[in-house]
Amino acid sequence: MKEEKERLYYVQNIPVPGTPKPAHTPSAWKETKVIGKRLPRVDAYERVSGSAVYPSDTSLPDMLYGAILRCPHAHARVLSIDTHEAERMPGVRAVITGNTSEANVDWPYLRGFKTKLFDSICRHEGEEVAAVAAETPYQAWDALKAIKVKYETLPFVVDEQKALEASAPIIHQGGNRSGETQAYERGNVEKGFAEADMVLEEAYRTESELHTPAELHGCVAKWDGDHLTVWESTQGVYAVQARVAEVLGLPLANVRVIGHYMGGGFGSKLQAGKYTIIAALLARKAGQPVKLFISREETFLCVGNRPPSNMRLKAGVKKDGTLTALDFACIGTGGAYPAGGTSLVDWQVRDLYKCPNVRTKMTDVYINAGPSRPCRAPGHPQGSWALEQMLDALAEAIKMDPVELRLKNIPTYSQAREGNPSYTTTGLKECLKEGAKAFGWEEAKRKAVEARKSGHVRRGVGMASCLWYAGGGGPPSTVIIKLFSDGSVNLNMGASDIGTGTKTVMAMVVSEELGVPIGKIRIENADTGTTQYATPSGGSKTVPTEAPAVRDAAMSVKRQLLELASKDLKVDAVGLTLEEGKVLSKDDPSKGIRIAEVSDLKRRGVIVGIGYRGPNLEGKVVNPFAAQFCEVEVNTKTGEIKILRFLSTNDSGRVMNRLTFDNQVFGGITMGIGLAMTEVRILDGNQTGKMVNRNWHDYKIPTALDVPTEVESLPIELEDPESNTTGAKGLGEPVTIPTAAAVANAVYHATGIRVTASPINPITLSQLLSQRRKEG
Ligand code: MOS
Repeated sequence: MKEEKERLYYVQNIPVPGTPKPAHTPSAWKETKVIGKRLPRVDAYERVSGSAVYPSDTSLPDMLYGAILRCPHAHARVLSIDTHEAERMPGVRAVITGNTSEANVDWPYLRGFKTKLFDSICRHEGEEVAAVAAETPYQAWDALKAIKVKYETLPFVVDEQKALEASAPIIHQGGNRSGETQAYERGNVEKGFAEADMVLEEAYRTESELHTPAELHGCVAKWDGDHLTVWESTQGVYAVQARVAEVLGLPLANVRVIGHYMGGGFGSKLQAGKYTIIAALLARKAGQPVKLFISREETFLCVGNRPPSNMRLKAGVKKDGTLTALDFACIGTGGAYPAGGTSLVDWQVRDLYKCPNVRTKMTDVYINAGPSRPCRAPGHPQGSWALEQMLDALAEAIKMDPVELRLKNIPTYSQAREGNPSYTTTGLKECLKEGAKAFGWEEAKRKAVEARKSGHVRRGVGMASCLWYAGGGGPPSTVIIKLFSDGSVNLNMGASDIGTGTKTVMAMVVSEELGVPIGKIRIENADTGTTQYATPSGGSKTVPTEAPAVRDAAMSVKRQLLELASKDLKVDAVGLTLEEGKVLSKDDPSKGIRIAEVSDLKRRGVIVGIGYRGPNLEGKVVNPFAAQFCEVEVNTKTGEIKILRFLSTNDSGRVMNRLTFDNQVFGGITMGIGLAMTEVRILDGNQTGKMVNRNWHDYKIPTALDVPTEVESLPIELEDPESNTTGAKGLGEPVTIPTAAAVANAVYHATGIRVTASPINPITLSQLLSQRRKEG
């Protein structure tokens, strides 16, 4: 478990001794005026009009452009690098390689593993070899071509199962196993299988999926003496600051990281990249700011992926639907370095359904491919692909409805965590019941079967459910709210809005507490120089972490404001309330003044409120739950699959903004359809070891034609006062976990063919269909 903790530091609720406590312990909101509404984004105009400034838009005086020379081989030793010609090219201001003394720094992976920033062994295609800064991007790219590198190519392996064979090329001293095999066991699995009426076993595989956010990875780096400022497209400015300071040996205070808007990350921008360090080193050498954004092709090779998983699951069930045993194994890969290739792949098996006897075993191996990074719900969609297809098969085997089988096995506490802590709420039952009802599950199932009698176009329905290991949020977080004398508000928060609507939700929290209109609330962009400490936005924890801190700060401002206004109104502060920019007497609403008229506020100029995120309840776990349902149409002659409709039920606690909530659902389902049907990283295992589809033409992400127009979001809004002072549990990741498995189950329902290896596309499905025809 140690490795998981290290890798998933950004999703953990780690109680930090001595962390400041919130001053207020408010009860749950009852009736809300703003929270829960369907409100457009506070920055919608900026985002859609193009006036929003993203880090990749940053332009500074005297700015140079950086570019990175990358190894063209899957595995090679760098014998020599000749940069003489490149250094004399027009516009070139700095060239660095592994031989440049200033660039002799270490780059950290997990488990304390380090390589040189420019290592003499390149263990994957695209590994960094040298870098250039020049006056224009074209000059920089031309200069890269003038660098002469002699490589000794080495044998490679890009298949994680082959990497375990005795004859496989060795990627690191000590062999191709990345860390210890992780084993988990509870109960007695053999006894559980003996008690079962039905035991099934199946192998599953999910392909590697790439993050490919719309905004590329990169930054602008600028030195001012020994102080470095970095404008970076990131999910967490403080995480980038920490990594840059560590690698360059700088005090944290000398590194300022500025976030601003950002165009997507999905986990691939939780940390600084090698490109961040390279930009800083080039800028220092050239004595000028350097902008270094990598190309689309480079993002496919070098800045992470959802790792592929090879899974085997054996499951036992009684006739009445009681699960008796689950035995799961996974071989995965984080690529060429320790990067968590199997992190959390077994978590659904361990904890989603009530089962006394569970065993899991995970083997992470090295291959010659780019290191993985956390990708929207790390490990979960992979494990879900196996578990949820198995549940479907078990249900069929015991002639029980798939929804009914899941309802038989609902947990109330976390079985896989030590001490079996209870969930604050377990909305799984509600998700399944309400979801099936709203989808018209029974009727759609019946109709699909009835229509099957004729024609080659078959309909099918499928469903899957999930929990997300994290969510919930937790300390630390600090925010500052300033209420100005005219009644407008500044919210200072160090968390990034990664495109999910964080700023909008936080403005709504301020508006709810202070009665200030949303349009009068200004939110600072994440910036280690000016905004307070926050953990990276990820793990579906941003709202549950930051919103309680914002609420605490707002309540502090409110208490101070009512004190000041009580003098003007001659009413005790406890008798006052805030509404629509006014301080009003609760007993006599005719008695009131506008915030801008509070005389002591005019004299003071500002009220400052500081808010903190308090610790979560001890011995309780805050996890979101979900279920998804879909209907597909399959052409059994061509293998074409059309997804007709999707429905997602989410128990994520309180809905803070119904519009941004629903949009997360639509985005998550789209991404899940990608995993199910279109996305696959293809590495040439025979001749080169290179990725052959590293562009948006050959690597298919779902388009508008691949996703249904009919997608319904159905929040299951259980009250959860134990989770935190807002009752929100986190949404961004559970929305994508069960999608792929639900599609696979629907395709099975339509065709009788179980596609156990992703992606399900006309090529893979028509092969399976013709195989079945041959077998008769
Ligand atoms: Mo995410 S993988 O928590 O950004």
